[in-house]
Amino acid sequence: MRVLVAGRIGQIATELVARLAVAGHDVVALEPPELDITDAASIARAFAAHRPEALVNAAAYTAVDRAEEERDLAFAVNATGPGLLGAAAARAGIPVVHYSTDYVFDGMKGAPYTEDDAPNPAGVYGASKLAGERALHAANPRSTTLRTAWVCSPHGANFVKTMLRLAAEREELRVVADQHGAPSFADDLADAAVALLPRLAAAKAGDACFGVFHLTGAPHTTWHDFTQAILAGAAARGRRVPRLLPITTAEYPTRARRPADGRLDCSRTARVLGILAADWRISLDRCLDALVGPKETTR
Ligand SMILES: NC(=O)c1ccc[n+]([C@@H]2O[C@H](COP(=O)([O-])OP(=O)(O)OC[C@H]3O[C@@H](n4cnc5c(N)ncnc54)[C@H](OP(=O)(O)O)[C@@H]3O)[C@@H](O)[C@H]2O)c1
Repeated sequence: MRVLVAGRIGQIATELVARLAVAGHDVVALEPPELDITDAASIARAFAAHRPEALVNAAAYTAVDRAEEERDLAFAVNATGPGLLGAAAARAGIPVVHYSTDYVFDGMKGAPYTEDDAPNPAGVYGASKLAGERALHAANPRSTTLRTAWVCSPHGANFVKTMLRLAAEREELRVVADQHGAPSFADDLADAAVALLPRLAAAKAGDACFGVFHLTGAPHTTWHDFTQAILAGAAARGRRVPRLLPITTAEYPTRARRPADGRLDCSRTARVLGILAADWRISLDRCLDALVGPKETTR
């Protein structure tokens, strides 16, 4: 299949390019200036040039704190963009895979969110992503949105890379222990799109494979416990690691409010799409192999 990926050097886009190619697809991944998803003319040019048979949108405005000050830009990329991409895909008669976030929820439920729970974003980023889901699905009913969380990979900026950097610089790390969620690795999220595309391409609007689905890694954890796993993995690869102390969200204020409990229930995705939440501890090992090197025992 000819697959157009919106976004090129982002975390998920990078993995999509590699994994779609391995699966035998003809992949074109584009970013500004070749493709600006906020510009209908730019999207039309990309569609005319590449005539895609499926579209995966991995482009987004992901600066959660900065979004509080750059509301217009966040909404342009995260809300207008998916709407324009959906409209172009609908005109071309092709399906769309899109990624969204647990930040569409306020984190107050006290249990993992299902796709039937009402969103209530606490900040601009979450609000813009929710508007994008709605704009995409209104424009193209043959769309599948995967809501995910805590995306990490060897590429780009993410929590694993930040913790490895801080671990090398500091004697002590203090990490929030009262926010719950699940790390999700970009390669696993790209694999989900690779698995989905043939089914979406063959399915008509209204098929159960279209709609919004939750997909994170498993099991659920906290930032603190995730950090513990990162540091253990770094130590197993010969790195000296600092002391780790749990702190509360109140002790680490950020500009945008984060959901205290953004756990997503991924059972519908397993049941309907046959895509299982990947064990993030295994994915983390792969990521650390790429970033730090193999474990000392396997050298
Ligand atoms: N990162 C997370 O923790 C997280 C959590 C939950 C959900 N998600 C969702 O997962 C998806 C992928 O996230 P990611 O972490 O891979 O993001 P990322 O690494 O920030 O990559 C996003 C890419 O989109 C590009 N982009 C920005 N504006 C664009 C535009 N107007 N047209 C075309 N491309 C544009 C960016 O380019 P520039 O760098 O040049 O701006 C960047 O390369 C997004 O939908 C995000 O909302 C992410």
